[in-house]
Amino acid sequence: MADARAWTGLLRWYVEMGADEAIGAEPVDRLSSPLLRPSAAASARPSPPSRLPARSAPVAPAAGAARELAAAARDLAELERAVAGFDGCALRLTATNTVFADGNPEARLMLIGEAPGADEDRIGRPFVGRSGQLLDRMLAAIGIDRRTAYITNVIYWRPPGNRKPTPAEIESCAPFVRRQIALARPSVLVLCGGTATSALLGLSDGITRLRGRWFDLEIPGLERPVATIATYHPSYLLRTPERKREAWRDLLAIKARLDAPPEQEAAPD
Ligand code: URA
Repeated sequence: MADARAWTGLLRWYVEMGADEAIGAEPVDRLSSPLLRPSAAASARPSPPSRLPARSAPVAPAAGAARELAAAARDLAELERAVAGFDGCALRLTATNTVFADGNPEARLMLIGEAPGADEDRIGRPFVGRSGQLLDRMLAAIGIDRRTAYITNVIYWRPPGNRKPTPAEIESCAPFVRRQIALARPSVLVLCGGTATSALLGLSDGITRLRGRWFDLEIPGLERPVATIATYHPSYLLRTPERKREAWRDLLAIKARLDAPPEQEAAPD
């Protein structure tokens, strides 16, 4: 009985720490494991050590398939269907929902975060949990809501236990994300947090150095670069409220850019 209580306590602690899925990051084909063969020794065929790399994520082919599917999508509805059917990102196997986007795709402002969390996975929309509520309050402070913003992530499926997405996972989704930007055609793009920022800007500097600066982001299919700014992720601001002052400055810069006459949109400084 004492044992049962101890095990239950341990499991509860795992869940509180975010380890709420009894699985790994990548699917493992255990049926093909040499350890499961009835008699690997008797067959006199040593199990080849090269099998493991063959099972690891096929980064380049997945990205290649994603590029083709993304390029074929003529509008956001087609792109959403392509993402939902894409099997090149293993996170899809453990997620409940594909989290494609929320808000108004016609909006001039587009925001991109990291990846769905537990609430987003359950509901199927980005930024609906605690950090989403903070994001809504931040946007409301500059007069924006989900009718005047379009929101997505660099990953469409929840990483188990809310871990950070791997570079291979980010790479496999990247062609869809870039196509999503091209089809939504925002005037201003906001990258929320370091993961979205490094995924789209491809710079190695941390978010503390990159936030608050404007970049011209070239997106295939768009004739003009998109005015892009990075800011802190709302979940970081929940943990580190002293950074809200800088985030507020970023919000004011975003509002000023949205309020600027159209010709200024094309040539951000
Ligand atoms: N964090 C993100 O980056 N995106 C979400 O959708 C939710 C939390």
